[in-house]
Amino acid sequence: MSCLRWLCQRHISYAARRSFLQKVSDRMVHSEKITQRHGKILRSLIKSEDKRLMCSASRFMNLRSTPEDDGVQSEVREKVMSHLEAAWHETFREMTTYQARQLAHKGRDRHESSQADLTYGEVKFSSLARILSEDLRRHNVELKGTFYDLGSGTGRGVIAAALVGSFTRLCGVELLADLHNAAVDVQKVYEHVVAPRLGLEVEQEVKFVQGNFLKADWSDANVIFINSTCFSKPLMEKIVKQAVKLSPGTCVVTLTHPMVSPYFDLVESKKLRFFAVS
Ligand SMILES: C[S@@+](CC[C@H](N)C(=O)[O-])C[C@H]1O[C@@H](n2cnc3c(N)ncnc32)[C@H](O)[C@@H]1O
Repeated sequence: MSCLRWLCQRHISYAARRSFLQKVSDRMVHSEKITQRHGKILRSLIKSEDKRLMCSASRFMNLRSTPEDDGVQSEVREKVMSHLEAAWHETFREMTTYQARQLAHKGRDRHESSQADLTYGEVKFSSLARILSEDLRRHNVELKGTFYDLGSGTGRGVIAAALVGSFTRLCGVELLADLHNAAVDVQKVYEHVVAPRLGLEVEQEVKFVQGNFLKADWSDANVIFINSTCFSKPLMEKIVKQAVKLSPGTCVVTLTHPMVSPYFDLVESKKLRFFAVS
């Protein structure tokens, strides 16, 4: 013999849930817990009655939570971030890591640079999103102005930063032509499909440049990302040498290898590191 167990809760109308979430959104934007851009995305999720947000709202309201509660705001923030992550994956649907590795492998063989420097790897959305929106914010680094990814591959770092930050210019510099061309295709998907679907007008300039970042000018950067795990010591030394041209306050996020120079202060070191020019 078996029996069913039912759990029922007071039904809360969708209009009431939307109104609750709208208040949460207003409070969060007002107290800068989320950016204006993310507030806009949140409003469009509320308007379209996003299923997961509506479920959360019902639970919050049944628990008599208020729009000011930290727990409510952090869950709503997480929902926005997971929506952005889904958008990032959608952008790369036609350019998988496997395909990118094959392009890199092919291009690498034709190049004279150190093979180790051209080893391919990709940053995960969650890692870069956490660094940008939590670690950098904690150190009052604004996600505004110009962002660079030095060695941008197929553009995963640039697109993640475009989604997470409020940068007005984002630029990826990549040596290998096939990876660069793939990034240009990815950019089209982002600009013509993904960003409009998120309700983001074209308010950012995303650019991919093919070439050696040691010969490029990135002195106007506000935030720089370098997935340097496979970069050799000589390459890192050249990057550091060129980086002395950066303005004070510029933040460099580098994975694995530090920026060894008296021109840089180590702001925070985790398994992932980032530096600011002093
Ligand atoms: C580990 S991959 C990172 C790709 C991307 N930033 C990401 O995290 O998804 C490093 C990239 O740097 C590129 N690279 C290495 N040396 C370079 C140089 N001197 N100029 C431009 N790109 C370079 C490699 O071809 C490779 O695509």
